[in-house]
Amino acid sequence: MCSMTANELRSKYIEFFKSKDHVEISGRSLIPENDPSVLFTTAGMHPLVPFLLGEPHPAGKRLTDYQKCIRTGDIDEVGDPSHLTCFEMLGNWSLGDYFKKESIAYSYEFLTSKKWLALDPAKISVTVFAGDENAPRDEESAGYWKANGMPEDKIAYLPASDNWWAAGPTGPCGPDTEIFYWVGEGLPPVGSNKGTDKDNWLEIWNNVFMEYNRVDEKTLVKLPKQNVDTGMGLERTNCILQGKTSVYLTEVFQPIIKTIEKLAGYTYGSDAEKDKSVRIIADHARASVFIIGDPKGVSPSNVGAGYVLRRLIRRAVRHGRKLGIENTFLADLSVSVIENFKNAYPELEQNAEKIKQELTAEENKFGQTLRKGEAEFEKLLPNLAKNPKKEIPGRVAFRLYDTFGFPIEITEELAAENGFTVDKVGFKEAEKKHQELSRTAEAGKAKGGLAEQSEMTIKYHTATHLLQAALKRVLGDHVAQKGSNITNERMRFDFSHPAPMTPEEIKKVENLVNEQISRNLPVTMEIMNLEDAKKSGATALFGEKYENNVKVYTIGDFSKEVCGGPHVTNTGVLGKFVIKKEQSSSAGVRRIKAVLE
Ligand code: ALA
Repeated sequence: MCSMTANELRSKYIEFFKSKDHVEISGRSLIPENDPSVLFTTAGMHPLVPFLLGEPHPAGKRLTDYQKCIRTGDIDEVGDPSHLTCFEMLGNWSLGDYFKKESIAYSYEFLTSKKWLALDPAKISVTVFAGDENAPRDEESAGYWKANGMPEDKIAYLPASDNWWAAGPTGPCGPDTEIFYWVGEGLPPVGSNKGTDKDNWLEIWNNVFMEYNRVDEKTLVKLPKQNVDTGMGLERTNCILQGKTSVYLTEVFQPIIKTIEKLAGYTYGSDAEKDKSVRIIADHARASVFIIGDPKGVSPSNVGAGYVLRRLIRRAVRHGRKLGIENTFLADLSVSVIENFKNAYPELEQNAEKIKQELTAEENKFGQTLRKGEAEFEKLLPNLAKNPKKEIPGRVAFRLYDTFGFPIEITEELAAENGFTVDKVGFKEAEKKHQELSRTAEAGKAKGGLAEQSEMTIKYHTATHLLQAALKRVLGDHVAQKGSNITNERMRFDFSHPAPMTPEEIKKVENLVNEQISRNLPVTMEIMNLEDAKKSGATALFGEKYENNVKVYTIGDFSKEVCGGPHVTNTGVLGKFVIKKEQSSSAGVRRIKAVLE
């Protein structure tokens, strides 16, 4: 085993795959572009969905990168020694190039070769897909594992619940083979694998063989090409490489934890309950810094990604108070996070001031009501104790939210600490009644997304380019895209502009777009390097990172944009473009909602 830092692991991974003819691409924003089906980028493959579905990637067929991800599904588990909401995924992809044989050989070599991670093969085991009505038992992958030296009894065949991977209800998917490392005492007993021991084998890498596309619940189709999508958890792998028992004991978290220790006058490791609070704060602070510091940074709010951010900050603040930290402290923690990650994610340093301001503003907002809310909660306890269901009524939970800014999760956590549950259904009803801006934008509710790629979403995608070019012509060159969100029923486009558009301006933009549609302009694509693309006058998303080679989509003489595609080939098919609404999105940013009729 070699000792290395997370920064070194990140570099080694990329170096290894470059040595296997992969091109390094940049990881993307945490906020997915054009995909309303999720709030955050949840895996390295997420920005690559169109390419996994068959769209050619400008950088080629073998790709590698590191990607910051947010997953909030396990947020309640955060606080134990291994769960995280924000993590980094190291990934490599074959887009219709190599398949199972090479993928497995690469993974095994990287993990065990003395030149690379030099992990002990005796502590590695794998799982493969056991087979069902969708796809056969994966003897092929098992065979390749054996050919690389994996003993038969270290290969577990597991069902789809373990060994079938998909990012969402629709989109590219397939059977996977997962790689585990032994975290129990000594060496694993003979015959031990993930099938026989769920606890002592920690997943570190997942190789998905994406050759299917789930179109809907009932329809699974074979993709035109066989792809590989792998994801290695950076923090976990770093942890095992260092022989540590928890990711929080590695240098990824130690600087943050040291700062918490100083602020709280508490030494990590002295009290189980307090340690849990430290871990929650460390994870949530890091996640919040990454969310605010993203090029498409989000601010705390009551909807969507902004609400997730609000929950993370408020939960961190509450646990800070539990540790006795009375003043605002998240800005101090952001300094440790930024320092640690600024090389891999330069946007964090660039946005350092904004990160501090947003964190402190939200902390102040919540800090003022937190004590009062907790006092209110305590007053309720004697009465609640008489409640045989041991349940906090929904309207009470809603009042804590509405009046004291307690996200429901905080009330649930407070309730659990006192032996109660919360009537969530009642909470929802109370929320509806008050017509609060609700969290209906939560993951999964919206339809559409990159994975969908229906004819309609592709049309909207092209219409978005026309709209942006028209806005620049009518309002001026200061117009820059701030966000875009497409379903198969409508488009939404956010852009920088200081004032509401006048009705005349709206009409002009609408007419200009429709004019281009009726001109039947060809939509063409060229791959060029980023510098040439910019020189050619192509619009690129401000703050977004690009590879060296990019795709540039040109619409006649009207628009030229750096974009991954796909697009229609002629504007004539778009139909009639109608702007339904022009409104404010945030300070200095306007939002247009439009449809194609
Ligand atoms: N996309 C796969 C995962 O996230 C590799 O596990």
